[in-house]
Amino acid sequence: METGIYLDNAATTFPKPEVVYRAVDHYLRCCGGSPSRASHRKAREADTVVLQARQALARLFGIRDSTRLIFTCNSTESLNLAVQGALRERDHVVVTDLEHNALVRPLWRLRESRGVRVTIVPSGPEGFVDPRLVEEAVTSDTRMICCVHANNVLGTIQPVEEIGRVARRCEVAFLVDASQGAGVLPIDVEAMGIDLLAFTGHKGLLGPPGTGGLYVREGVVVQPLKHGGTGISSEELDPPDVMPEGYEPGTFNSAGLAGLLAGVRFIEETGVDRIHARERELNARFMDRVRGLRGVRLYGPPDAERKVGITLLNVEGLEAADVARLLDRKFGVMVRAGLHCSALSHRKLGTEHKGAVRFSFGYFTTLDQVEAAVDALCRIVDAVH
Ligand SMILES: Cc1ncc(COP(=O)(O)O)c(C=O)c1O
Repeated sequence: METGIYLDNAATTFPKPEVVYRAVDHYLRCCGGSPSRASHRKAREADTVVLQARQALARLFGIRDSTRLIFTCNSTESLNLAVQGALRERDHVVVTDLEHNALVRPLWRLRESRGVRVTIVPSGPEGFVDPRLVEEAVTSDTRMICCVHANNVLGTIQPVEEIGRVARRCEVAFLVDASQGAGVLPIDVEAMGIDLLAFTGHKGLLGPPGTGGLYVREGVVVQPLKHGGTGISSEELDPPDVMPEGYEPGTFNSAGLAGLLAGVRFIEETGVDRIHARERELNARFMDRVRGLRGVRLYGPPDAERKVGITLLNVEGLEAADVARLLDRKFGVMVRAGLHCSALSHRKLGTEHKGAVRFSFGYFTTLDQVEAAVDALCRIVDAVH
């Protein structure tokens, strides 16, 4: 198998823990029934996997009632479900300028279709949102505040707990996009005042692609995005208004959930704090080594303290896409260049036309790999400066 140095963990984590590969393989070979559909033993085994995955994620996020956690394909589906399901005609929404297109685009569609009004709160120069500005943006029509937990371009960790307090004070729903935070940062929906939590399974949660979910606090009304067979109340032509089944029609990605369950168990055993400390260490080493390189511009805060394992940069005199291509083709270092599906973040940085190069480290990245990436970058920089 072709190897190389994988530093694109913000897109999707690689490798996964060995237990994740084994769990998917075992599920497909040995379990294999369709969950919530039958009472035979293979279906019951599948039910157990889905139930355990739901309970493990609820534990990880401090969710008291695991039936409030709906499984989806990814964060994109969860964010669509949250905003399309909860917002009504002419509602007002407060978001930050650090959001991913997975949230911004559905909101833009709702501007057209339901006259939803969106206020974008600008983050500070280092990429952190000030909760006071969020509070100032709230009006009597505001129905929801949305904030990314960690931005996927700069890696900056947002003051979610403080913004949650703002949402409570203003009595509006609080939606958090935890795509980059889940599995890497502590999340407690109660302590953080989160009403809607969107997450994806294939990034920090270390599971397979095609898995994700949305937590919906009791009392928050969200209409389902899709309808179909649920395995319950089949005699009714009306879809069941039951959590979570009413939001999960169709056959599950239960093999994916078996892998996600293994990923979450790995995280619980390892400890979220330890995982974040490791990412911070790798990121700090990388930042220390490339800071001051001639022609290299780093974006965001000057240190790795309040970031997940992401560093964004550009090399003067080279296109971001060329830097990424050279890193891969000549040195086997895999990073992502461009806008990272977050036009708002790049607009804020002034890189919306040329993009930038993102290095993102994961729990399994080694310091030797970081050093090799730095050496590769130095050689590319030396060739042009
Ligand atoms: C902050 C953020 N939100 C949403 C998403 C969308 O995740 P997915 O592609 O798994 O739906 C991503 C993925 O890059 C992300 O980084």
